[in-house]
Amino acid sequence: MLDKINFMRKKIVAGNWKMNLNYTEGVSLFSEIVNMVNDEVIGNQKVVICSSFIHLSAISHLAKSHPKVSVGAQNCHQTQSGAYTGEVSASMIQSIEVKYVIIGHSERRQYFSETNLILSEKVDAALKHELTPIFCIGETLEQRNNNTHFTVLKSQLSEGVFNLDESEFKKLIIAYEPVWAIGTGLTASPEQAQEIHEFIRKEIAVQYTQAVADECSILYGGSCNSKNAAELFAKPDIDGGLIGGASLKSRDFVDIIKSFPK
Ligand code: PGA
Repeated sequence: MLDKINFMRKKIVAGNWKMNLNYTEGVSLFSEIVNMVNDEVIGNQKVVICSSFIHLSAISHLAKSHPKVSVGAQNCHQTQSGAYTGEVSASMIQSIEVKYVIIGHSERRQYFSETNLILSEKVDAALKHELTPIFCIGETLEQRNNNTHFTVLKSQLSEGVFNLDESEFKKLIIAYEPVWAIGTGLTASPEQAQEIHEFIRKEIAVQYTQAVADECSILYGGSCNSKNAAELFAKPDIDGGLIGGASLKSRDFVDIIKSFPK
């Protein structure tokens, strides 16, 4: 039964390039990844590349002829348009046929003061413009050490996305990214990650239904690489990864994509 449920859930590996790569480097890395995915990846896992805005239009165009690879933004503004110098709205992102957007990454929460309330508005804006949000949650090391991580994760979910009705919630991808594991080389152990993913799925079942929880893809992020991905992806509630540093190297990234249990 469990295998059947796992099979029904989408397996996803999303790369988060963050603020890296100039235009030429980004387009060439994207082409390299797409070619390797076409040659080597035989499963039906979905691949998403979340680049900075300067690459999006070009790589979204390239992605049209490669159904296994999609493109995502790393952020969007919650308002449709207007006097928000430097910002990019969900409707602008939609206009270049980008399909995904990361919302609530801990770097946005930490460095750009994005609160759960703002993030819930961003999720609404993304859904309104037919973007699939990859909604990130995660605790800091201090919160884990204080044993408040479950409470923190619960409020990130309830204030960020549990206001959605069931049909809208079903469009989301959730990413669990412990802040202490991001870019630090400290990965959550497969057991630690599984414990949290199971908790998240239970919270979804309580808020919505068991069927909604069973269908929700929950990705792990935080120093996930080609060496530890297989062990993480083998856990029953881990449906793939959100990959930062290792997504900038085509060989590592494609090896991660190939790390799902056969
Ligand atoms: P990392 O980043 O893989 O470099 O730890 C993950 C992320 O921030 O999405």
